[in-house]
Amino acid sequence: MKTIVLLHGFPLDAGMWEPQRDALENAGFHVITPTMPFFGPPPLAVGRNAADYPLLQAPALEVSSMESWARKVNEIIVHEAGGKAIVAGLSMGGYVLMALLRAHPEAVRAAIFLDTKAAEDSPEPRVGRLKMIEDVKAHGTAGVIQTMLPKLLTPQADEGVRKTLRTIMARQRPEAVCGAQWAMAHRRDQTDLLPSLEIPTLFIAGAADALTTPTMMAQMAEQARGKFVEIPRAGHQSNLEQPDAVNAALLAFVTGI
Ligand code: MLT
Repeated sequence: MKTIVLLHGFPLDAGMWEPQRDALENAGFHVITPTMPFFGPPPLAVGRNAADYPLLQAPALEVSSMESWARKVNEIIVHEAGGKAIVAGLSMGGYVLMALLRAHPEAVRAAIFLDTKAAEDSPEPRVGRLKMIEDVKAHGTAGVIQTMLPKLLTPQADEGVRKTLRTIMARQRPEAVCGAQWAMAHRRDQTDLLPSLEIPTLFIAGAADALTTPTMMAQMAEQARGKFVEIPRAGHQSNLEQPDAVNAALLAFVTGI
């Protein structure tokens, strides 16, 4: 059975892949959806005392990096997929996939990039990320949901999708948000990686994605000599806003590998 690993975006967890998990499993794939460290619903014991929140107590944001997360994904592929898998990443998940491709190219049979970019941050967004860390430390994560939601969906997205996204964002802990922003602010530029890829690649972009535009992603596809699919009526979170169209693109690609 072929394995496909789906890497989630920010500030979310594996729950964002539910529509794709079902479609891919129904098509006979072994689907793995890792949640990055500190993301996801907190275990029940966590939150009872300050010792459970190491990232809030110490300047330990450095434990989060695209490279350390890529190492974990590689371990999962080694232990659960015999060392090789198709890997897909949306936005932040795409950054992790690029770090994985650089460190462990042998682990990736084919790569799927959704609504992501290869370039590192310019100074302005980097400062915005560091500001979000300070805001979250001072006021918690409520502001993150308000800031992020309009960036992830089109204004036409239906209330069910909004609710799903809000629910997933609301369960992320401050240390996950802060660690990821730190890691993304310090991630390396990966533009030179794309032309070096020797595997099948697919690039998917929401037609109305303002964060990682279809133009940017079509250019990435060209650099990687990959396939490009634009998803109509979708913003940045294309997999949730138009799951059927994204599933069709994924299935068309992965069944041919
Ligand atoms: C995401 O959707 O994962 C974020 O937009 C990534 C980022 O902040 O660069």
